[in-house]
Amino acid sequence: MSRKPIIAANWKMNVTPSEAVTYLDTFLSTFSQPVNVDIVIGASFVTLPKAAELIGPNPAVDLAAQNMSHEANGAFTGETSAAMLNDVGVDYVILGHSERRSLYGEDDAVINKKVHATLAAGMKPILCIGESLEEREGGQLESVLTSQLEGSLAGISADQMADIVIAYEPVWAIGTGVTASKEQAQETQAFVRSVLEKIFGSDVAGATRIQYGGSVKPGNAEELINQPDIDGFLVGGAALDPNSFAEIVGAGIGG
Ligand code: 13P
Repeated sequence: MSRKPIIAANWKMNVTPSEAVTYLDTFLSTFSQPVNVDIVIGASFVTLPKAAELIGPNPAVDLAAQNMSHEANGAFTGETSAAMLNDVGVDYVILGHSERRSLYGEDDAVINKKVHATLAAGMKPILCIGESLEEREGGQLESVLTSQLEGSLAGISADQMADIVIAYEPVWAIGTGVTASKEQAQETQAFVRSVLEKIFGSDVAGATRIQYGGSVKPGNAEELINQPDIDGFLVGGAALDPNSFAEIVGAGIGG
């Protein structure tokens, strides 16, 4: 089954609207035509409108938010709704990132509501899952990933899975410079696909794109993307430089 790679920058709480202009001037000039990789820029809420304006006419690049409220509207101070993101032109929403889970207390039940709300608004979730080092070393890798998938995807139909991307991000590899080896990432992502197969069947499992995230950089992108169950990346630190992110996308195009 051939799956189109999807490579996304997660800028996290970096890149102001003004900085996005400089970044995207460089980056978008490299990717002005459609390529065989879906390219996504994940910007902060305040940077999204400026990024949308710059990306708008570009046929190769889509825009992602990094979080979203599951509530439609109302008295939820500080929150941002699906309608607001839609209005700005957001295509994807990164949900359940480990920083949201560990620093802001998001659990699978709330992430599941966000997945449903994102799809209902016509946008595509990038659903993040991943284990801590303690969990991996304690033999809980498979049970943690299984319960994250079952919980976050509760009530999702096989048809809806066509619009969902999974990002496997081992917590111990995020921002640490320690990348999962290509064997570790492949083995774990094959396991993630087997869980999807149990829930949704083999057609859906075979068609779902599973990204790897955690200290991806130009130097390791190629060996990772060449693994059969790695269908792209979610990139933090190395995506803060447009040339470095372009090199990682280039590995996907070549791979
Ligand atoms: P780093 O690429 O900085 O390790 O971050 C990965 C990540 O969390 C992307 O969402």
